[in-house]
Amino acid sequence: MSNITDQIARRRTFAIIAHPDAGKTTLTEKLLLFGGAINLAGAVKAKGDARRAHSDWMKVERERGISVATSVMTFDYAGCTFNLLDTPGHQDFSEDTYRTLTAVDSAVMVLDGARGIQDQTRKLFEVCRLRDVPIVTFINKMDRESRDPFDLLDEIEQSLALDVTPASWPIGMGRRFKGCYDLFSDRLVLMDKAASKNVMSEGEVCSGLDDPKLDELLGKDDAKTLREEVEMAKGLCPDFDPAAYREGSMTPVFFGSAINNFGVRELLSGLAKLAPPPGPRPSATRPVKPEESKVSGFVFKIQANMDPKHRDRMAFMRICSGHFKKGMKLKHIRSGKQINMHNPILFLAQDRGTAEDAYAGDIIGLPNHGNLHIGDALSEGEELAFTGIPSFAPELINRVAPDDPMKAKHLGRALQQLAEEGAASVFKPRLGANWYVGVVGALQFDVLADRIAAEYELPVHFEPSSLFTARWVFCDDEATLKRFADKERAVVADDHEGDLVLLARNAWHLDDLTRDWPDLTFAATKDQTT
Ligand code: G4P
Repeated sequence: MSNITDQIARRRTFAIIAHPDAGKTTLTEKLLLFGGAINLAGAVKAKGDARRAHSDWMKVERERGISVATSVMTFDYAGCTFNLLDTPGHQDFSEDTYRTLTAVDSAVMVLDGARGIQDQTRKLFEVCRLRDVPIVTFINKMDRESRDPFDLLDEIEQSLALDVTPASWPIGMGRRFKGCYDLFSDRLVLMDKAASKNVMSEGEVCSGLDDPKLDELLGKDDAKTLREEVEMAKGLCPDFDPAAYREGSMTPVFFGSAINNFGVRELLSGLAKLAPPPGPRPSATRPVKPEESKVSGFVFKIQANMDPKHRDRMAFMRICSGHFKKGMKLKHIRSGKQINMHNPILFLAQDRGTAEDAYAGDIIGLPNHGNLHIGDALSEGEELAFTGIPSFAPELINRVAPDDPMKAKHLGRALQQLAEEGAASVFKPRLGANWYVGVVGALQFDVLADRIAAEYELPVHFEPSSLFTARWVFCDDEATLKRFADKERAVVADDHEGDLVLLARNAWHLDDLTRDWPDLTFAATKDQTT
């Protein structure tokens, strides 16, 4: 049994960010295939329904055939233990997606070679940038007619303000796509039309681009083009700089075709070699180092149980330090209570197994009845408050009302619980009896209505509001804050934790108040600390 430092050094906790359809699901499957977590037959079978079965637990998900919930998949490859945190790629995604990115140490950005950077890629990238999360780029679907690789590199550099450096170089594209030259390990990897063959092929080791083997394997013309293009790319792009990558200012770019299992091995080896193991986590008092002997962690996501009749929830905890063992007791800092970890869940790709053992960087599931909230810290006693688990200002705000007006009180309770779970932002205006719910993607309203009806037996409806956005209002001086709240009482509300929120009618309204109240901060994110 290796020691804690070795265990942590081999951990790679990451997420895939992508615009819908870029190939995130396909790549996830292939990563699991290469990681040995599923077999080839399983992967083929897993198309369609079975592929979605993993998180297929809600009516809305089933009806729309998309995954609203996120999950964790653990597999081993090249001596590393990978924890892949799934982020829903549909355009109507929730804060869960954002928060999941606070629990990873790096990310893989998947682009469709024909489309490049798309809306969602940019949005998710910006969230990564808040924490300078290192990003490896995978340009997918090279087996289709794609954009020119130089164009794609240029777009990443220009539109995301990132330095780019090719880690592999594609040879042709579409029907003429032959494979890639792996610039990091000087290997020529050719694509075999039978996708399964690509799982086996490690490629031909070359002594560099001048190796005559290239001419033999590719033919003179393609070998010449490859040499010219790589030379040009090297002239245009900086050399790979591990420090710049780890600071989040440079991205190595791999090309491939996930559906053909192509480029996946190089991507995984790249992650094993380059991606950072768990690092220190900021807390209100001090940075918490992963190799510290005492266990600590924070909850970044809550998922309601598959069975809507039960109140059980699963809290996802990222372990920040120490060696976690099943059966240990951890202190829940917010309540001050000791929690016995008798039933922690480890997320193996296909199955859920009980976690006997886990280390910093791992994610464990803690079944609970609602006592664990997003942002909660757990430790072996120290009063830790991890920072940087934000709530994001919702982009859509609707009024919510029970179909039966007599049930308003019940609604309040349901909304409070859903807000604690992190399923939505809930605002109670200081004036009037309305409730407002804010979400990041419109689909969340359907999900919420469905859940409130199923779990609380309370049919509700959402009505569009004329509100533009919500801003948390902060000020060091309590008196100023109170003055603001009194004067603007028609447009302020409390969130579920009693923090003051401005419900702005439009951008102009927000600008105006920002100018009139220079001592106040109108924040688009709220840091959730315990
Ligand atoms: P997402 O999770 O990012 O939304 O994307 P997903 O993997 O579901 O892929 C979207 C579509 O792109 C799928 O086709 C998938 O088969 C295809 N795809 C993924 N990787 C590649 C690739 O490397 N090359 C090519 N040519 N296609 C790729 P679909 O028709 O929408 O779904 P399906 O019926 O094939 O599952």
